Amino acid sequence: MLPISFKENMPALQNKSYFNYGGQGPLPTESLNAITTSWERIQHLGPFTNDVWPYITKEVISTKNLLSEICGIHPRRIAFTENVTSGCVLPLLGLPFSESDHLLISDCEHPGIVAACKELARTKNLRIGILPILKSCNGNDNKNETYKTVLQLIDANLRKNTKLVVISHLLWNTGQIMPIELISEKLKEHPSKPYLLVDAAQSFCHIPIKDACNKADIYAFTGHKWAYGPEGLGAVALSTRVLEESRPTLIGWKCLKAEEGIHVNNINPFHSDGRRFEIATSCIPLLAGLKSSIMMLKNEGSETERFLKITSLSSILWEKLSQIKNIKLVLNSAPPSGIISFEINGINSPEEVVNYLGQKNLWIRVLEDPKWLRACVHITTDINEIDNLVIGLKNFISTKKSI
Ligand SMILES: Cc1ncc(COP(=O)(O)O)c(C=O)c1O
Repeated sequence: MLPISFKENMPALQNKSYFNYGGQGPLPTESLNAITTSWERIQHLGPFTNDVWPYITKEVISTKNLLSEICGIHPRRIAFTENVTSGCVLPLLGLPFSESDHLLISDCEHPGIVAACKELARTKNLRIGILPILKSCNGNDNKNETYKTVLQLIDANLRKNTKLVVISHLLWNTGQIMPIELISEKLKEHPSKPYLLVDAAQSFCHIPIKDACNKADIYAFTGHKWAYGPEGLGAVALSTRVLEESRPTLIGWKCLKAEEGIHVNNINPFHSDGRRFEIATSCIPLLAGLKSSIMMLKNEGSETERFLKITSLSSILWEKLSQIKNIKLVLNSAPPSGIISFEINGINSPEEVVNYLGQKNLWIRVLEDPKWLRACVHITTDINEIDNLVIGLKNFISTKKSI
């Protein structure tokens, strides 16, 4: 019997055409089994026994090693989190801001991160400025042009007292890649040396990330999107500066160097590595699930090979969509990533499109602001699915006499 393929290993991909990898990736059965096996192992050893601790330690170390290899950083700079948002927000809230400091946030950030920055600004009396990349990049996928525009915008919007810049590595709405390394160099030259917080929700296991991850102060990602991992497990890579300067914010036993002596006067009882942002009991079996998915991904090719496959699939989809009358693509040529956003002329409620396609087992999503439709392709996408989506959209448009 032939071994089953990566795609065949995913029940979620057997009965539908799936384009929501940027929302949540499917979980391979092999990874689900790895989670169950790990859970059984813990129960067999005894969930709170001396026998289980070496197993848990091994799981933690091997997962951090694997993540640090992908990020190109030392494992001590990694903290486990539950999701992208907590990876961004937990270290952010502990940064040393002074009253009236300026935070510069791109206008393509996820609402949860924006809300956290706004609340931080309200409570600490900070100022928020918006980095207007959405319109200024003008739908252009040309990497050099985009990079130049973003850097010019940063120059124009940095203030003397800017202490933080927040920007995603891969924009969740347009699919454009941001020049994180160049932004970091610029910030290092700025007199107030702003921290660089990078939302890596869409970049981890999608595009190569080592250089960006090395340059960011906070680089937060999750296993449950492009890595085909389980929901509930993410991580954040932290710069040495953040480890030294940010105080833990949601404090629990996991961030303590030692549990004993906590009543003794000690102003810094916290770990000096990534664990200072870990809180308390978490779900260890998820580590086995994420490791399994990442190992399976690695078997599908190198990071660069996988990225090339994604972009070749997204250019096929972009090309086909560009030939459909009334589809208005956000980028004016093939996208630099697996994310393709578009509108349908004359359709005020894109939810209607998602519902229509959903009934045909085709899954894309609506983004809220701007209200665009988004389809993501990954290495498990095939040409049949792309054709199904194109046919589904053409059929939807043909049902609309008014457009
Ligand atoms: C860019 C971006 N940031 C943050 C999030 C939130 O992710 P999580 O639920 O893992 O915190 C998402 C989810 O889609 C996202 O696309």
